[in-house]
Parts: sequence; C-alpha cells; structure tokens
Amino acid sequence: MEMETYASLNNGHRIPLVALGTSRIPEEKTEACIKLALEMSYRHIDTAFHYGNEVAIGKSLKEYLESTGVKREDVFITTKLDAMFMEEDTVVPAIDESLRRLNLEYVDLFLIHGPCAMKTLDYFPEKAPLTTEYMPIDLRETWKGMEETVYKGKARSIGVSNFNSKQLEYICETARIRPAVNQVEVHARFPQKKLHDFCKSKNIQLEAYSPLGSPYFKGPDALNRVKASDNLVDHPVIVSIAEKYNRTAGQVLLRNLVQRGIVVTPKSENPKRLKENIEIFSFSLDEEDMKKIDGLDNGIRRFCLSYYDGHPDHPFEQL
Ligand SMILES: NC(=O)c1ccc[n+]([C@@H]2O[C@H](COP(=O)([O-])OP(=O)(O)OC[C@H]3O[C@@H](n4cnc5c(N)ncnc54)[C@H](OP(=O)(O)O)[C@@H]3O)[C@@H](O)[C@H]2O)c1
Repeated sequence: MEMETYASLNNGHRIPLVALGTSRIPEEKTEACIKLALEMSYRHIDTAFHYGNEVAIGKSLKEYLESTGVKREDVFITTKLDAMFMEEDTVVPAIDESLRRLNLEYVDLFLIHGPCAMKTLDYFPEKAPLTTEYMPIDLRETWKGMEETVYKGKARSIGVSNFNSKQLEYICETARIRPAVNQVEVHARFPQKKLHDFCKSKNIQLEAYSPLGSPYFKGPDALNRVKASDNLVDHPVIVSIAEKYNRTAGQVLLRNLVQRGIVVTPKSENPKRLKENIEIFSFSLDEEDMKKIDGLDNGIRRFCLSYYDGHPDHPFEQL
C-alpha cells in the first residue's frame, strides 16, 4: 500500500518523512554518501553546525543539482543552531555561517539543537568544541532570533530539538511563529508516546533521531544504561515481523515510526542499508504488529545529553 512520503507542517510547508541522518558519517565518506543518497531519491538531509559536515553536504548537493536539473526547492535541508549561539543576536550570524558552509541561500528547517546554551570564546571554530561552561539563557530570546531567520528568508521553517513539553510550551506562549518541529530520540524502545501526544495537540511535527535505536553507538552517553545486546535491529520481535513482510528489520523499525506520523532520520553510510531505509513506502504494518512493537517500549533512552548534566535547562528530567 503506497503512502504519502511527506508530512505537512503547521506553516503549510511539506517535510519529507525520511531524512538522511548525517552525524557520525566519517568525514571522508560524507560527499559520496550524500551523492548516493540523492541518487537514491532521498529528498531530506539532516545536518547541524555541530556535525562539521555542512561544507561537504553543500558541495555534494550543488553538484547533484547541477548535473541532474533537480531543483533546490525539491530537496529539504535541515541544519541546527549550535549551543554556543543561543543569544538572540547571535542566531542570525549563526545561520549565515551555516548557509555559507552549505553554499545555500536558505535552509528548509532550522532547529535549536538543544535547550542548553553554552559559552565559548571562539565564535566560529571549524569544529564546535565541547565546552562545559554553561550559559543559562531565556529560551524565548533564542526563539526571537530564530523567528528573525524566517523574516529574513534564511529559513523556511523553524523548530527545536531535544526540548521537553514544558520548554516547548514556554516558547509557544509568546511565539509569533510557532515551532514547526521537535526532533528528539524516538524508536521502538523509547517511543515518546506522551511527548508525541503533546506535540500533536500543538500541531508540532515530531521528528525521530536515532530511529533505529542507534544500534552500534558506543559513545559515553549511551554506555552503562543500554546493554550492548539490546540491539533493536536484531531483536527477535522485529526480526520475525520483518520475515512476515519480507522486509528488513531496519525497514520495519522505520515503517513503524512513519506509520505513527513521525519523520525519521536514519543514518547509514552503507549503500545497501541506505537504499533499504528509503524504501519503506510500499508496505504497511498491520495493527497487531504495530501493537507488538509498542510492547518493546522499555523507557530507556540512549542519549541523555549527560555532558549538560547540571545545566538548568537540561531537558530530560521531565516529559
Ligand atoms: N538532534 C540531536 O540531538 C540528534 C542526536 C542524535 C542523532 N541525531 C540525528 O539522527 C541521525 C541518526 O541517529 P543515529 O545515527 O544515532 O542512529 P540510527 O540512525 O538509529 O542508527 C544508525 C546506525 O544503524 C546502522 N544502520 C543504518 N541503517 C540500518 C539498517 N537498515 N539496518 C541495520 N542497521 C542500520 C548504521 O550503520 P551503517 O552506517 O553501517 O549502515 C548506524 O550504525 C543522526 O545522523 C543525526 O542526523 C540528532
């Protein structure tokens, strides 16, 4: 059964339901990977200032558009405001820097990467350093800067990432432009049902990062809480559903989320899996299998943003 490959945002723009996640694609592979993804008809690329790959993405995109005649407006590019640039008057300079790196005039979606503002002395370093110096900030001020990026035509839509419902509510109370998207960790082990309901009530699109459960990530943030054996793409429930539909485990996990109306951002640098991850629109999971996947919820997130522990705006103490 074919389904729509886009969702509609609260401002009327359309967002492709599958994005290529680009964090952790090794630097030397990024250009080739973006090119391949575009050739496979990915039409949404998810990046961030913090990933340090905006230049490579801009280069591949430009080459692809020039060589195929595909139009800029047919590809949806998301980037994110770094934690270092969250004061109101640093937001527009920050998007300008991302646009310069991406070699674009506008991005389709600009997200506040997270609610925890950080200080830095080096304004535009080539790679964002991890600093532990907090800079508590009124998120409404950051949001005003975000709105400015839309008024100046630099972003078509704006939103947030890693925000809890209270932080979203706080912004919405005074926003002139309502956030279009909240990008957070969502997968079968951590389906975010409550936050999803909240976002739906505000007409904010939920977007899933780590939609496959980030199966091979061994970073310090994920250690100690998630057993190495708890790998969703090998989970017997997912594997048996995949066999039933003659699809892969990855496709079942992604299909489950888009069927819930959630945008997904799977990362792959492997051509076979890259292709699998975009081919999720020609089958649908029945209600019984959707329920089986619901049963895998164990409430454990992989990413706790532990490097922001103690920050007054750390988002994960509540829904
Ligand atoms: N906003 C935020 O704070 C935030 C935080 C984390 C992530 N993100 C975004 O979300 C994206 C994805 O997150 P993620 O990389 O943590 O997790 P993920 O997409 O859930 O998992 C990626 C891992 O799964 C493997 N994989 C990909 N497709 C597969 C398939 N079909 N079957 C089996 N394994 C598969 C990949 O390996 P191969 O590459 O070898 O295929 C990679 O190791 C990031 O790239 C980034 O864009 C955002």
